[in-house]
Amino acid sequence: MVEVVPVNTTYEPFSHEPEYIEANRAFILQQPLAHVDRFLDLACGTGTISELLIGQSPEAHLNGVDYDPVQVQLSADRFRKLGYEVRIGFDLTDDYAGGKPVLVFGEGDAGKLPFADASFDCVTICNAIHLIEDKPALLASIARLLKPGGVFGFNTAFYSGSMPEGTDRLYMDWLRRATVHISEKSAALVAAGQPPIKRQRGTTRKAFTNPWFTADEWSRMLADVGLETTERNVRVVELSERAFTTVGAYGGMAEVLLSGFPVEVASEALQVAAVPAMRAAGASTVPRNYLEIWTRRV
Ligand SMILES: C[S@@+](CC[C@H](N)C(=O)[O-])C[C@H]1O[C@@H](n2cnc3c(N)ncnc32)[C@H](O)[C@@H]1O
Repeated sequence: MVEVVPVNTTYEPFSHEPEYIEANRAFILQQPLAHVDRFLDLACGTGTISELLIGQSPEAHLNGVDYDPVQVQLSADRFRKLGYEVRIGFDLTDDYAGGKPVLVFGEGDAGKLPFADASFDCVTICNAIHLIEDKPALLASIARLLKPGGVFGFNTAFYSGSMPEGTDRLYMDWLRRATVHISEKSAALVAAGQPPIKRQRGTTRKAFTNPWFTADEWSRMLADVGLETTERNVRVVELSERAFTTVGAYGGMAEVLLSGFPVEVASEALQVAAVPAMRAAGASTVPRNYLEIWTRRV
């Protein structure tokens, strides 16, 4: 019998983890945003960041964009439950309904958006900038969409420096255990007369030697498009066993750490291996560094 482990590979479960919400809240609260009339939340996912932004300026309008239609729907549902009128698309509306601003969520690529120049006072892309292939194009597009003096902020746990010193052994052991899980699963499939699990050739990226940017490299790229760094901070987030397990199950993480394997298999393996790796290292939490940058359009 091949063991079936329930695994949710979407980002949704991790987006409810208290450590995650608090880290993002602290990041958003760093920036005075009460004056903002119009937000743009790129790669908005389930709307966690959008909700934090609106909390800072409750009268403001907000557009959220994600290239995954499921996430767009999750964001829309979230705000409808909170009593907002939500439209789907890319309108820059000034409408209010029931005393609240109408919010708009659209399915699209963060780097290629149909909005007019200088449409927004504040643009964010949280926990996602590392996923965007053409970063200079993304940053140029953000600078174009911001009003002069407008602010752009992002945070990421995938940059050069995101693994606190001393945690690399735990991370490597996690990957080793996950790979063993996949081998055992593959052997069980073969024994049951099914094809083995194969890692696709040519797609494997080295998980921990990625060309992730340093904080200085980010500031230089931002300056190149006229975005001046005003705040730069490293936040250490301590992940509990549950949060570490949940983030392991997230397909976006599995694609980076065990690229080439079918994503459901990789997610399951990282989920299963998370707690054993922590316990073997005697760690009750796993620290992860989040780089946070706020900039102003000059
Ligand atoms: C880790 S989630 C972060 C969601 C949200 N920003 C948050 O911090 O809770 C990453 C999101 O980026 C989205 N995404 C990845 N690449 C994208 C792109 N090129 N354009 C728009 N969205 C993208 C994914 O669909 C996913 O919803």
